[in-house]
Amino acid sequence: MKTENTVWHEQHISKEQRANLKKQTPCLLWYTGLSGSGKSTVANAVDALLFKLGCHSYLLDGDNVRHGLNGDLGFSDEARIENIRRISEVSTLFLDAGLIVSTAFISPFTQDRASARAKLAQGEFIEVYIDTPISICEQRDPKGLYKKARSGEIKDFTGIDSAYDVPETPEIHVKTAEQSIQECAEQIVNYLDEQGFITISTNISDILSNKKHG
Ligand code: ADX
Repeated sequence: MKTENTVWHEQHISKEQRANLKKQTPCLLWYTGLSGSGKSTVANAVDALLFKLGCHSYLLDGDNVRHGLNGDLGFSDEARIENIRRISEVSTLFLDAGLIVSTAFISPFTQDRASARAKLAQGEFIEVYIDTPISICEQRDPKGLYKKARSGEIKDFTGIDSAYDVPETPEIHVKTAEQSIQECAEQIVNYLDEQGFITISTNISDILSNKKHG
């Protein structure tokens, strides 16, 4: 618990120094979308592309983090709020370490995404809306969870009996039903380049075909 007896201790090495060492500008790609929308798949493709570009990045993924740090949390509104609060705190630390961070969580509530944004500097929080219609998510049903939710075996399932607030003004709007995973990933990496977070000195398609980086 935060009390009057805990005092913030300034560290010698700043976020800027750590970022300079890595020759990049830290930022947070905050993916949001329904279960099965493709958040993890797109975020993984972006992470792989960033790696090939020589960027230092890290991906925090909902299902994985719920196996460890957030293993004590379920899917009530309160549990989801706490899930997102912790992720927001952890990603703020990772940004402080100079990394380009991606988080792939449903993060269904506007207010929690706004709180995560408010912890960072202007422009650092990049909301990436993975916009896939629920009918397609349900058709994909990679983990068989929609089926279980429809039969009542799982309660509080997002989009069925738990709310999802659609992002109103995401920085990046991705439609996985209309684009390939690679196109989605390039759209996001190009945004980082345009905004000056990274510098791509070569054509992305050259990198994909391994012309320059082997
Ligand atoms: S969040 O709402 O708190 O942001 P999070 O992204 O961590 O959710 O976890 C979502 C993942 O948990 C889904 O992709 C799915 O695999 C699994 N899951 C299990 N139960 C539920 C549920 N009731 N609602 C949504 N996802 C669930």
